[in-house]
Amino acid sequence: MSKVKIAVLCSGGGTNLQAILDAQAAGNIPHGEVVLVVADSREAFALKRAESFGVETAVFDKREYPRAARESAILACLKAHGAELVVLAGFMTVLSAAFVKEYEGRILNIHPALLPSFGGVGMYGLHVHEAALARGVKVTGATVHYVTEECDGGPIIAQKAVEVMEGDTPEMLQQRVMREAEWVIYPKALEQVCKKMRGDTI
Ligand code: GAR
Repeated sequence: MSKVKIAVLCSGGGTNLQAILDAQAAGNIPHGEVVLVVADSREAFALKRAESFGVETAVFDKREYPRAARESAILACLKAHGAELVVLAGFMTVLSAAFVKEYEGRILNIHPALLPSFGGVGMYGLHVHEAALARGVKVTGATVHYVTEECDGGPIIAQKAVEVMEGDTPEMLQQRVMREAEWVIYPKALEQVCKKMRGDTI
């Protein structure tokens, strides 16, 4: 059985990418393999993580490529590498409907809240945790979902709840959500999807 070729799209630190690469190295993603990491910023630390893992990288920097040109270049790169599944891991641009259509049902995203709470346009990174604290929720978490035209609105694949603690700052909450939820559920959801794509339901 050939493994599903996975491309991971990142913009920054890439800790979710790291969790995926670590899971792959540990043999926990037997149905898939990360073949490409794409960043939209030359400074994205995710690129270093990919390089030290021996994964090919490509950069289409926001400062050099206007949005439409960037998307076309990313799409061409994905196709050139034979990517079958696109994984957004801290990718901070909302993809256009045309892009989503090209990989319909084959784009995953992780969001740092329990969707449909604290999702949608403008809800990314630390803003999500600021909003959760401002609303006073006692439980938050992370969600892995399929990407559709509607920002953060696609079918949910996995979720994990995380407790909010008294005195949490957005940064503290972000770290806890990553450690207890994101890095745990993303690699698992990815294997689940890859397995399904290969028609293996066992
Ligand atoms: C993660 O918390 C991820 O859930 C969030 O950005 C962070 C990226 O961290 N993504 C979004 O907010 C997307 N709407 P990472 O680069 O270390 O994986």
